[in-house]
Formats: sequence, structure tokens, C-alpha cells
Amino acid sequence: MYAAGVAAFVNVNGSIFDGKDAVVPVFDHGFLYGEGVYETLRTYQGQPFLFERHMQRLRASAGMIALAVPPDDAHLRRQIAETMTAAGLRGGSGGEAYIRILVTRGVGELTYDPAACPAPTIVIIVKPHVDPPAAVFAAGVTVALVDVVRNHPQALSPLIKSNNLLNNALAMQRAFARGAYEGIMRNYRGELVECTQSNLFVVSEGAALTPPIDAGLLPGITRGFLFEVGADAGIPVREQVLRDADLFGADECFLTSTTREIVPIVQVDDRRIGAGTPGPVTTRLLEGFRRKVREMAPVVEQA
Ligand SMILES: Cc1ncc(COP(=O)(O)O)c(C=O)c1O
Repeated sequence: MYAAGVAAFVNVNGSIFDGKDAVVPVFDHGFLYGEGVYETLRTYQGQPFLFERHMQRLRASAGMIALAVPPDDAHLRRQIAETMTAAGLRGGSGGEAYIRILVTRGVGELTYDPAACPAPTIVIIVKPHVDPPAAVFAAGVTVALVDVVRNHPQALSPLIKSNNLLNNALAMQRAFARGAYEGIMRNYRGELVECTQSNLFVVSEGAALTPPIDAGLLPGITRGFLFEVGADAGIPVREQVLRDADLFGADECFLTSTTREIVPIVQVDDRRIGAGTPGPVTTRLLEGFRRKVREMAPVVEQA
């Protein structure tokens, strides 16, 4: 994750390092076999947003690969806070933080037997959060509909937020090749499911529609939060099976994720969606999202 010029701080099993000095052993099964799970959070006013929901999903992902996450939420929260302090990102003028928590199987012999790894490795990466450019929200983005199929749920469930991101990375490579901002993926049944790093919504007749969880997708925290934002804003938000025709016939379209909030999609490959500009329902949901975030954020004391 460390790149020259990026001020990342990394907590490895409780010890905090400058990003360029953080290491995990080669015999960690996270490295050897991709056995690990993760969460990406961000702060608003210096506080990790929807922390409990992220921890719940982290533990659910870990459970699905028979991996125990030993420290309780309060311990992880303290470790995050300490890493944010080291990174100079404790709110106020320090700016907001991007936080990635990774839990891997840990170090052990070359075998798939989980018993070979007595203790998981817990890594927390903290770096400055960078908002998408203002133009992304103002003008919307072009995405690609890619032909890399999302993992079959009975092969590798997309419910697991796994460090093994080859399915997503290969799909995003296709999108990069077309100069697209994101890649929309279909499931094994040919239905639209989600994007490579975000969830998908289309707007039709005033309602925001998103594929159901059993289509085989990651239950995004932002996706889940959007049902609440919609209820507050008087906009129906529903799950519905979506196909290509629903996308190309939609009035509006957008994606959601922790780090990107709600991003309008105005074009898919060479086809315009709706009017080709961010639509009114998307705009109201984004405003409602940001209003709700402000309402939920703690009041920051003035010095
Ligand atoms: C495949 C996939 N879907 C959806 C999301 C959005 O999830 P969230 O809203 O929890 O960030 C992500 C985020 O990383 C993702 O990787």
C-alpha cells in the first residue's frame, strides 16, 4: 500500500511503523494463500464512520473463512486511534483519515490446515483520506460494463470481504483499459451485481434500485446506509434484480462506497444514461447522505 510520497502509518499487531517500514512475514498465509479479510473505513470529523457496522462485517467475513478476530471492537478502536495519532490524523486541521484493517490467517507451515497458524496477523493502515475530485460529483463519471463475471457465490462468496481481490482487480483492469472510472460486473446468471469496488444503483420512476444480496455481491455499508438516507429523503430505495436493459433504460445511475460516497454514473461505455448529467434523485440522495453524516458526527470542540 505504501507509495513514495504517501504518508501512510501502519500498525502491525500493535506496533506502529512508518508505511515504508511495515512488513509481514512471507509465511503469513495471507501472503501465501490470500487467506485474510479486510475493511475500509473513513473518518468524518476525525471519527471512523459507522464503525460498529464495519466491525460486524469484518467479523462476519472472518467467520466465513473460519478465522477468529480475537481483539474486541474497543481494542481495535484504540489501535486505530493510536495509528491515527501517529499519522497526525486526529481530526481538526489534520484532515480526515482513510483506514484499512486487514486480518490474515497468520504465520504457519505450508499447509491449508488453519490449525497451523496459531495467531492471526492484524494490520491497520492509516493515511490521509482524499475525496474524489469535485468534478466527479458535479459532472458524473463514465464506467465500463466488463465481461469478467463476479465470483459465483458457491465458489467464493462475494459476502466475504476478502484480501484476495483478483476477481475485482481483473475486472477493474478491463475498466482501466477503456479509461473508465469503474467497472460494472454481472453475476453468473448474467444479472448486474455491483462494481469492482462499489455498489450499483439505477433510478427508475423516482425509485433507487439495487441488486439483491443473493445476486452475489458485497453488502456495502454505504449501500445499507442508503436505505436510511432514502427513507429520510422520501425516496424509495429497493432491492431488485437488474439486467442490462434496466441500466441502459434507467433515468439515472450511481455507485456507492465508503471512500466515494455517492458518485453519479452518466455514461456506460459509449452509451449515455438518462440525460447524461447527474440526475435529481441522485443529487437529493447525495445531499441527504451528507446531511445525515453531519447530524451523526460528534460536535468538534473549538479550541
Ligand atoms: C466489491 C465491493 N463492493 C462494494 C463496495 C462498497 O462497500 P462499502 O460501502 O462498505 O465501502 C466495496 C468497497 O470496497 C467493494 O470492494
